[in-house]
Amino acid sequence: MLHGGDYNPDQWLNYPEVLAQDLELMEKAKTNTFSLGIFAWSTLEPEEGVFHFDWLDKIIADIHAMGSNIILATPSGARPAWLSQKYPEVLRTNERREKQLHGGRHNHCFSSPVYREKTAIINKKLAERYGDHPALLMWHISNEYSGDCHCDYCQENFRSWLKNKYQTLEALNEAWWGPFWSHTYSDWSQVESPSSLGETMVHGLNLDWKRFVTDQTIDFYQHEIKDIRRLTPDIPITTNFMADTNDLIPFQSLDYGKFAQHVDVISWDCYPAWHNDWGTTADLASKVGFINDQYRSLKQQPFLIMESTPSGVNWHDVNKTKRPGMHLLSSMQFIAHGSDSNLYFQWRKSRGSSEKFHGAVVDHDNSEENRVFQDVAEVGRGLERIKAVKGSYKNSKVGIIFDWANNWALEDAQNFSQQSKRYCQTLQEHYRSFWNADIPVEVITPNADLMKYDLIIAPMLYLIEEATMDKLTDFVEQGGQLVTTYLTGYVNETDLAYLNGWPEKLQRLFGITVKETDTLYPKDHNQLDYLGESYVVQDYCSIIQLQGGQSLGSYTQDFYAQQPAVTKHSLGDGIAYFIGARTKQDFLTDFYGSLIEELSLSNQWIVKGHPDVSVQSRNSEAESYYFVMNFSEENQVIEVAKESTDLLTGERVGTLIELKPYGVKVLQP
Ligand code: GLA
Ligand code: ZN
Repeated sequence: MLHGGDYNPDQWLNYPEVLAQDLELMEKAKTNTFSLGIFAWSTLEPEEGVFHFDWLDKIIADIHAMGSNIILATPSGARPAWLSQKYPEVLRTNERREKQLHGGRHNHCFSSPVYREKTAIINKKLAERYGDHPALLMWHISNEYSGDCHCDYCQENFRSWLKNKYQTLEALNEAWWGPFWSHTYSDWSQVESPSSLGETMVHGLNLDWKRFVTDQTIDFYQHEIKDIRRLTPDIPITTNFMADTNDLIPFQSLDYGKFAQHVDVISWDCYPAWHNDWGTTADLASKVGFINDQYRSLKQQPFLIMESTPSGVNWHDVNKTKRPGMHLLSSMQFIAHGSDSNLYFQWRKSRGSSEKFHGAVVDHDNSEENRVFQDVAEVGRGLERIKAVKGSYKNSKVGIIFDWANNWALEDAQNFSQQSKRYCQTLQEHYRSFWNADIPVEVITPNADLMKYDLIIAPMLYLIEEATMDKLTDFVEQGGQLVTTYLTGYVNETDLAYLNGWPEKLQRLFGITVKETDTLYPKDHNQLDYLGESYVVQDYCSIIQLQGGQSLGSYTQDFYAQQPAVTKHSLGDGIAYFIGARTKQDFLTDFYGSLIEELSLSNQWIVKGHPDVSVQSRNSEAESYYFVMNFSEENQVIEVAKESTDLLTGERVGTLIELKPYGVKVLQP
């Protein structure tokens, strides 16, 4: 189990006593892995073509001598000033076509031939020098790739990408609905990136630009790893992914479903705002669970937490430190969902600049006595004790489909309500019903193999390709159960509306047609009667006509009162459900509760659980490890089927499991 994190000795080369202390403290913190060189380009190549590796040689040797590993980064996330000064083309151009100034980081052009040349040189030197080093565990390519560039090189690449995709300008004009507001192009050279998404009303263009940005970022990454892969074919390669917002929804600016296919291991940087004032601890924990499940599922293998904080960060609105117990609990949660590490940003707080107060293992006090350092050492001991878990996967029979292109198109759509679309959050609400019941879920893309699941949940597929309709139909015909919802089935892959009513393939699959979608104001409500209970519905109500499907529940108000709101349709050996309106959690809990029973999905290990106590297991062929995690501020007790041993403490635990606030146990029956 990897424990350690981003180490920036390049900031401390004038403080040899600090570097020496680092080594001592690393052993005391029970760490074993350090990511080096992420932002070290100006130290590695202080002048063009002049390379200084001695300092890195020594640090790697020292870390190796302790028996620890390094994850070596390529430094392209931030570049030296000489590079920006001599070759301004490496600087990014924003959507207003303004060249950005040197400063900050993560702001280079992915197309610039000079940037590509300079990264190739430094990356190759790193691979040649350290590729055989026994401490080298993995490559960390750049840092948190994101953003787009609108320079002339990028425009040219965008046009080539489009030519490759559409072949002819006629095909592009058709796909983008050219005559709308006179946007038909008569020459490829007229095609440009969107000036800003709010202003460019050509939705097909906006969508293709986002797809291009993903492909161009992957292309830059492929360029970065070319020599690395050739020189070190056995060293795995990763780049650190992210999530959006402090309460964690899937990252929006790149299609990670695509990017995941190009990395050997998914790693990501997770910074939940624990102890916030907008939701319960369990609310946030379930969202953390969702994203971790997504990063496990995208490659169907364990992943790594590349960065997290031992205490607070410096970029939330309020940077609250973790309460006692939370660091161990949140670290174990990563492992419970499939991580084989907890690595931190950062090992030591920098002395200057914007991250000098960001949480770190070692504070400015340089002390091993402080609470954060002690919490880290406790996690280090814990990870050693549960190392048998490493490499094990999770068995899940439930898949939730998340699709990046769908969300991009839906966000662009000028219909419905801008505030209430909430695609990501809606998926997380559906997920919550399973998280509360301790049932493992995978978060997949429409390209995944669906056949390994018993239940597929695909809410709000506003953009849906015909191929996806076919795939979902096959899944149901062969015995799967499928749930989708309102706002499904509007546009195709280039954001053109389906003609002649709700797509025929969906009509056949769900045994219904959707005649209209009513968008409600935030204060509006309707009611849904379902199996003898009444539930509030809000935001969206589909008006449905049955065509062979069966109504399970209907609206009680408005001009569509008594009409179906939830439907069920048997097709082949399976069943397709349609939830026509946005409900609250109460309905989802009851609705999925019956499916859980019917499909025997419930967690067999639990006799009596608690919604705030999350149980997640990792499974190898021979063993199951149960992580029991109390995401509440109260003592909790759950009951399980078998006695077990808590790997974290070595204690025997009976079938009644008592947990303190933020308590966690890792149980082996
Ligand atoms: C990101 C970056 C790190 C650091 C942290 C701070 O994850 O990759 O370099 O800035 O944020 O939380
Ligand atoms: Zn560019």
